[in-house]
Amino acid sequence: MTTGIQLAYLLASVLFILGIKFLGKTKDARKGNVLSAVGMLIAIVATLVTLEVLTFLEIFACILLGTIVGLYYAYKVEMTKIPEMVALFNGFGGLASFAVALSDYYLKSETNPTALDAINLSSILVSLLIGGVTFTGSMVAYLKLDGKVSGQPITFKGQHFLNLLLLIAFIAASVAVFIDPSQLTFLMVVVVISLLLGILTVIPIGGADMPVVISLLNSYSGMAACATGFILNNNVLIVAGSLVGASGIILTQIMCKAMNRSLTNVLLGGFGQTASGPGVDGPAVVIKEIGVEETAMLVDAASSIIVVPGYGMAVAQAQHVIRELMELCEKRNINFRFAIHPVAGRMPGHMNVLLAEANISYDKLLEMDEINEEFATTDLVFVVGANDVVNPAARTNPQSPIFGMPILNADKAKTVIVSKRSMGKGYAGIENELFGYPNCLMLFGDAKQTITKVVGELKEMS
Ligand code: TAP
Repeated sequence: MTTGIQLAYLLASVLFILGIKFLGKTKDARKGNVLSAVGMLIAIVATLVTLEVLTFLEIFACILLGTIVGLYYAYKVEMTKIPEMVALFNGFGGLASFAVALSDYYLKSETNPTALDAINLSSILVSLLIGGVTFTGSMVAYLKLDGKVSGQPITFKGQHFLNLLLLIAFIAASVAVFIDPSQLTFLMVVVVISLLLGILTVIPIGGADMPVVISLLNSYSGMAACATGFILNNNVLIVAGSLVGASGIILTQIMCKAMNRSLTNVLLGGFGQTASGPGVDGPAVVIKEIGVEETAMLVDAASSIIVVPGYGMAVAQAQHVIRELMELCEKRNINFRFAIHPVAGRMPGHMNVLLAEANISYDKLLEMDEINEEFATTDLVFVVGANDVVNPAARTNPQSPIFGMPILNADKAKTVIVSKRSMGKGYAGIENELFGYPNCLMLFGDAKQTITKVVGELKEMS
């Protein structure tokens, strides 16, 4: 029986690793999801069988219930609300590790205090700290993203000093728990500090930075699960927790790098609100407008088009009408492709998911490194609700907060049309010098509405 369970755990771990590998490529991502889900199912069933706490019927009833709830929320959630959902998932993951650590401590302190050895106690304390921070931090992230509390950084004097004091108090209480594990008071101090630290470390971060924080909290939830694996002596939890912990921290670093920010800069907060001062916005830009009819004529005359989607495309839900535009262009033998910036939108893979939802095939979506050289030989670049990811200030203005951030070279194309509602700024809170370039034309209005009109014009022209 035990060998069978260990083999099931091994199989589940292999499936998790393969799942993560497949998730690295957009076209294989669905396969990766399925493999990981099957791995998780195997791990859950094997664990429940080992513990012999439930009958098979009860296990399957629980799985069915969980599946129904999961499916309901997965179908119901709007694409723009995925970050909130991930924040809740992370929070519950942290809470689960936190609850297991707490109950293991109580169980052993009452029934078998000698089992609370150094390794066990360290795992419990680590799990309580990371699990507690993940839980309350994720709840604050969720509330900020959902607009239930202000997305503005909430700061007060001595905030970082207070966090430091709490960390020192946590270490002191942990030492006391080690010295006398039967002292429940010290454990309660550990519990309260862990929960408080989650709130205090996330409130000073602005709502717009939440996706990076969520990715970091995702990594924490993995580390907490890994520590819980040591408490329960459960190999598959250790493997799964390490994978989530490591991949979350890698993703956080990729996001920070693509935004040209350090993690410390994100965690200390205030980005976007502070983007002002001499030179930050460069010289004032003089823009040229274009209408729907002229846009359709330029599209019709082009032999190659690259669409640069951004956050505004998600807001407008313009992906379906863009697919229509693509189909019309392909009928005209226009080479039509998409350039995807790694941090376009507000969450990793945001644009890929939206365009896939509109049935645009993955081979049309090109990553920044694959397509950046091709802008110079492209007739028309259609920027749809993107702003920061095409701002040449990242190359030209050392005063700009985005200076050094890798951008899509849309400005190098023969003509650039920018679809957005106004001269409103993007996430970084700065002007975009591209809008004043001689080859750039502004198509004002909601992206879905204006592109629908362009599509209408093109249909009439054919
Ligand atoms: P942004 O620079 O944020 O610009 C989005 C633009 O969309 C705005 O300027 C806005 O202009 C326009 N817009 C809004 N609603 C629209 C609508 N209905 N129709 C047409 N346009 C609309 O977007 P981006 O270029 O995708 O860049 C992403 C930014 O987010 C980067 O600075 C990145 O660092 C940051 N960020 C990304 C992530 C991830 S993981 N993707 C996470 C955190 C932060 P108007 O108001 O004038 O319409």
